[in-house]
Order: sequence, then C-alpha cells, then structure tokens
Amino acid sequence: MASIPGEEIRILLVDDEPYVREIIRQGLEDANYKVEEAGDGKVALEMIRQHAYDVIITDLRLPGVPGEKILQEALSIFPETIVIIMTGFGNIQTAVDAIRMGAYDYLPKPFQLDEMVMRVKKGLHERRLKSENTLLRSELQGKYQFSNLIGNSSAMQQIYSVVSMVAQKTSTILITGETGTGKELIARAIHYNGPRKDNPFVGVNCGAIPSSLLEDELFGHVKGAFTGAHQHRIGRFEQANNGTLFLDEAGTMPLDLQVKLLRVLQEKEFQRVGGTTTVKADARIIAATNMDLLDRVRKGEFREDLYYRLNVIPIRVMPLRQRREDVPLIVTHFVKKYCAEQNLPLKRVSHEAIKALVGFEWPGNVRQLENAVEMAVALSGDRQLLDLVDFPMVGATAGEESLFQNIEIPEEGIHFNSLVEELERRLILQSLQLAAGNKRRAASLLHLKRTTLVEKLKRMGLENGS
Ligand SMILES: Nc1ncnc2c1ncn2[C@@H]1O[C@H](COP(=O)(O)OP(=O)(O)OP(=O)(O)O)[C@@H](O)[C@H]1O
Ligand SMILES: [Mg+2]
Repeated sequence: MASIPGEEIRILLVDDEPYVREIIRQGLEDANYKVEEAGDGKVALEMIRQHAYDVIITDLRLPGVPGEKILQEALSIFPETIVIIMTGFGNIQTAVDAIRMGAYDYLPKPFQLDEMVMRVKKGLHERRLKSENTLLRSELQGKYQFSNLIGNSSAMQQIYSVVSMVAQKTSTILITGETGTGKELIARAIHYNGPRKDNPFVGVNCGAIPSSLLEDELFGHVKGAFTGAHQHRIGRFEQANNGTLFLDEAGTMPLDLQVKLLRVLQEKEFQRVGGTTTVKADARIIAATNMDLLDRVRKGEFREDLYYRLNVIPIRVMPLRQRREDVPLIVTHFVKKYCAEQNLPLKRVSHEAIKALVGFEWPGNVRQLENAVEMAVALSGDRQLLDLVDFPMVGATAGEESLFQNIEIPEEGIHFNSLVEELERRLILQSLQLAAGNKRRAASLLHLKRTTLVEKLKRMGLENGS
C-alpha cells in the first residue's frame, strides 16, 4: 500500500458491491492514499469507533446500517472527517439531506474515478487550510479566549456571549456541567470581566466542608457563640461584600442551611452564628454543581424555592465530548503552557495523536485533557513530536476493549479472586517491561500513582520496601 511519507491519510470506503470498492480503491491507492474497506454498515461503524478516518466515502443505501447513520457517527467522533456520499441514480434529494447533516460532498453514480480522487484531494486541502486558519487566528488575536477559557465551538461561543452579558449585572447564576468542564473558570471570568473585579472573588466549596461547619464558614460567628469561639469571625458572605461569592458544589448543601441561604438571598442580610445584630452584605452569588439539581429537587434533597432563586441565569457547560472541535485548540494551549513551565522548547503534536485525542470520551473533561497533556510533555523527554504513545489512556480504549473480548465464564465457573489477582500481576509485570523498569512510567501506563504501584509490587513480593 502506498502512502505519502510523514503524512498518512486514511480513507474508509463503504459500499456493499465488492467490485465498486475495488475500482475506487485502486484509484485512491494510485494517488497514494491508504484505503480500508467495509462491505456493510455495521462493520463500518465498528471501524469508525476504532479509528478516526480522515475521509469516509460511503454509499447511502447499505445493508445493516444506513449511510446517514455512518455520517452522523463519524462526525460526532471526529467532526473534521470529510464524508463523501455516493448516491444511486435519482437519489439527489437524500444526498442533499446528507450535505445538510454535514457531509462534505456527494457524487452520483456512475462517476469518473478521477472525479472522486479530485474531491478527496480538495476536501483534505480545504480542511488543512481551515484548521491552520483557526489555530493562527486564535494565536494571533487571542480572539477565542475569554480570560483563560479556550474553545471555539458554538457551545463555547455561546458561553462567551452569556459571560460578557451577565458580567455587567448582579443576577444570580447557576452553572451546571460535569466535573472538569470549567465551571469555576467561567465563574471567575464573570467576576473578573465585570464592575466588581477589584473586589474579592470568594469561593466556598460546600461539598468539602462538613455541614456542621458550613454555616459558620458562610456567615461567621460572634465571640462566645460556641465553645472555642474566642473571637468574632466574619464569614465568606461578608468577605465577598461588593464582590462575588462562588458557592461551589452547591448541590450538596444540607437542607437546614438551604433554608438559611434562601433567606439571605431574599433579604440580603443575615446574622452571624450566635449573634443578634443583622449584617448586610452585598455579594453577587454564582453557584455551581455537577449534579442534576432538578432531580435532587424531585427527590426532596434540594429545596425547590432555592433552586429557582439560584437558577435565575442558568449556564450549562457541555462535556468536552460534545464539543470535540475544541480539543485541538485546548491541546495546543496546554502544550504551550507546560513546555514553557518546564523550560522545554515548544513541542508539536502529531496529526494521529490529535485525531485520537479528539475521538476520546474524556469523562474528566478539560481537567483530564490538561493532565494528559502535562504528563505527555513531562514524560516525552527530548522528543519534539508528541505522538500516540505519549497519550497512553487514549490509545488504551481500543486495546482495553480487545482485552475483554475473550472473557467468557466456562460451565464449571471460575475462581474470581485468583484470576483477578493473576490479571493484576500480568498487567504490572508487562507495564514494567514496557517502561524498562522505570516505576513512574510503568505506573503512568496503568494510570496508577507510583506509590500505589510500589505497594502492589511489595504485596507481590517484588519490591523490598525501597
Ligand atoms: N474551556 C477551558 N479552557 C481552558 N482550560 C479549561 C477550560 N475548561 C476547564 N479548564 C481547565 O480544566 C481544569 C478544571 O476546570 P474547573 O476547575 O473550572 O472545572 P469544574 O467544572 O469546576 O470542575 P469540578 O466540577 O470538578 O469542580 C482547570 O485547570 C481549568 O483551568
Ligand atoms: Mg469546580
């Protein structure tokens, strides 16, 4: 198979007619592209989930899964995929619909082979220009940055416009989104882009403080309020006067405190614990949670009236996997940041690695991606080009899947504990082998802390406690 050195373009060709595939394949290979084939929709979907293709050429009418589904799936995994649709005679309308769904182009059958090759070339060329432009623009103008927020997806653009609008006001805001999506960063952006920016931004993590202490933390206490209260102490509310109070993990707040908070939000005044005088504090409230608050309301764990008080302006942050086009920009940003921080010359990331990062699910969202980049930069030594091997967890998904493929419980059953132990032993030994004995690297291959790995080695009798 021919390919251009240094840049391997992978094409997936989906058609149920073997001879059609054969002809197109020949033409594309003559033009130095690497071509893989699928004869039905199901196989194609499987392949798309395993690997992000640069180009997918597909018939719309397929056995198993229709071409539209392949188009949809491919674009959701890797939005930059160039999908070219082949249509039978008289099917122009469906082709037009496919373009609307994000296909790059369509070709009615029968077509000239040259025509197909030309469209593939044109698609790739346009994509390269587009991604170069996006990176260039974002670097030159910082246009897509709002404070430290990176991302150019429409979901992020929407957040920027809400942020700039609400920053000027004092309405209460509720930011929701999965862990690591940037809720705190958004809260800070709102504060630091508004008229309160010279006054304090005060954060309280409602989930981390025991509920018995949370009231004291928020409202402060007077001297003698309880044993050990030797002095007056002002709470976070007062500290945030004229500034912003960020109530993080607000969903975990105990019910009795919710009542008190509601009162403060309504009356803008409160009493310190053990105190009798009323204190006024003008703090703008931004709350954040990764829980489904409405669900908690339904279950009686969160007060409905407080929910509506907080949810005056809702900001919903999409998980990273639903705005995958942001991944390349975020990666570039953090590569730059961590190279600078570690005093290394600027590294680049291979196209293959970017594709894999874009296709990954990122359950820990931007935080997890940031950690992955930091680790890759730190562990890649003198190498200038970060590649798939530098992002082990991303490569792991396909591999992990295959690890589980042959697991089947036989009739006579299995010895669960000893099998799991044996699996652990093999994985650990293999990781050490791959890492040439370097425990830190081996631990990172397994996504374990080094200390955890050492502990396990000790238990296996392979570490003498050093
Ligand atoms: N859009 C973004 N651009 C750049 N960095 C981001 C972005 N979103 C998140 N981050 C980075 O990811 C990390 C996590 O962000 P943040 O603490 O704001 O998340 P969070 O939503 O509050 O998470 P949690 O629910 O776990 O508290 C931070 O280091 C932050 O700088
Ligand atoms: Mg947070």
